[in-house]
Amino acid sequence: MPCLSCNDLKVSFRIQKKSAYAVRGVSFSVGDRRTLGIVGESGCGKSVTAAAIMRLVPTPPGKIESGSIRFEEKELLAIPEKEMCGVRGRRISMVFQDPMTSLNPVFTCGYQTAEPLILHKGMDKRAAAELSMELFSEVGIAEPKRVFSSYPHNLSGGMRQRVMIAMALACSPRLLIADEPTTALDVTVQARLLELLKKLQDTKDMSMILITHNLGIVTGMAHDVIVMYAGEIVESAPAQALFESPRHPYTECLLKTIPSIERRGERLTVIPGTVPTPLEVPEGCPFHPRCPKAKDVCKKDHPPLHRVDGGGNGVNIDNDGDNGKHHVRCHLYE
Ligand SMILES: Nc1ncnc2c1ncn2[C@@H]1O[C@H](COP(=O)(O)OP(=O)(O)O)[C@@H](O)[C@H]1O
Ligand SMILES: [Mg+2]
Repeated sequence: MPCLSCNDLKVSFRIQKKSAYAVRGVSFSVGDRRTLGIVGESGCGKSVTAAAIMRLVPTPPGKIESGSIRFEEKELLAIPEKEMCGVRGRRISMVFQDPMTSLNPVFTCGYQTAEPLILHKGMDKRAAAELSMELFSEVGIAEPKRVFSSYPHNLSGGMRQRVMIAMALACSPRLLIADEPTTALDVTVQARLLELLKKLQDTKDMSMILITHNLGIVTGMAHDVIVMYAGEIVESAPAQALFESPRHPYTECLLKTIPSIERRGERLTVIPGTVPTPLEVPEGCPFHPRCPKAKDVCKKDHPPLHRVDGGGNGVNIDNDGDNGKHHVRCHLYE
């Protein structure tokens, strides 16, 4: 049994008086103690997928139209809101790109970390403060005491993100969702935070969903990767298979945008064009207007998800969407 499995999830938004899908039938699962990377350019539906898992899609204008999200024997899309409150922040925690939007500026970091421990775990003030400082040390904060009594605006961006991670870990969640956790940080701080996440992944009994627009970041972090484009999964595979033999032209393009030492001196590729908004998703394969390999069929027919066989060029068709196997949604593999 996977830790989380999401099946045929569809999320719409009312935009300019029309209803349009931002997530269009997404299926994946996250294994126990595994890390799933969700990759794609900005606007592909990654955060909306995460919001759906937390049942935090703003309604209206958003609506979870259909699908299933199973977690710890529960169907998250069917349980009452009260039960969902017991899942959110406790069994599933989230870390966002900008900690300033989730940290409260008027309370100290210590108060914000300790308070949920008092409320949810019934700890007394002193035990909660001690555990908070332990968590601060665990996430690599060198002066836990000072940070405990600091207000968020007195800390650097990297330090704030560490506080957020400590808060997310406070209730020992089964699943941590990190949505662009390092995007707002400079490169060295980013590298240290990724190291921290990796350490947590190795030492905690926890699964992780790591969302990023940067395919380079999931290298060495994720076990499995799904690539999203225009609200759907265009390729999914174990990380190594995806990097070594990407199948979808979009994945190939994303890989070419990663700076690498071997390709030093070459110009970095930019994918021409932009991700369509939910209102303007083109017919056929949504990537066709930007695809260097597009054929006529790509303009007309929406490609199904094909299962890619282990080696060689063999491709068999299978729409079960299960992880661990290599799948690609592209007419080139028919
Ligand atoms: N509250 C909202 N209202 C209208 N459209 C939204 C809202 N949130 C997200 N969207 C649209 O859904 C699409 C996917 O967004 P998102 O999941 O945030 O992308 P990303 O992959 O960058 O995380 C975008 O086109 C975005 O404009
Ligand atoms: Mg996002």
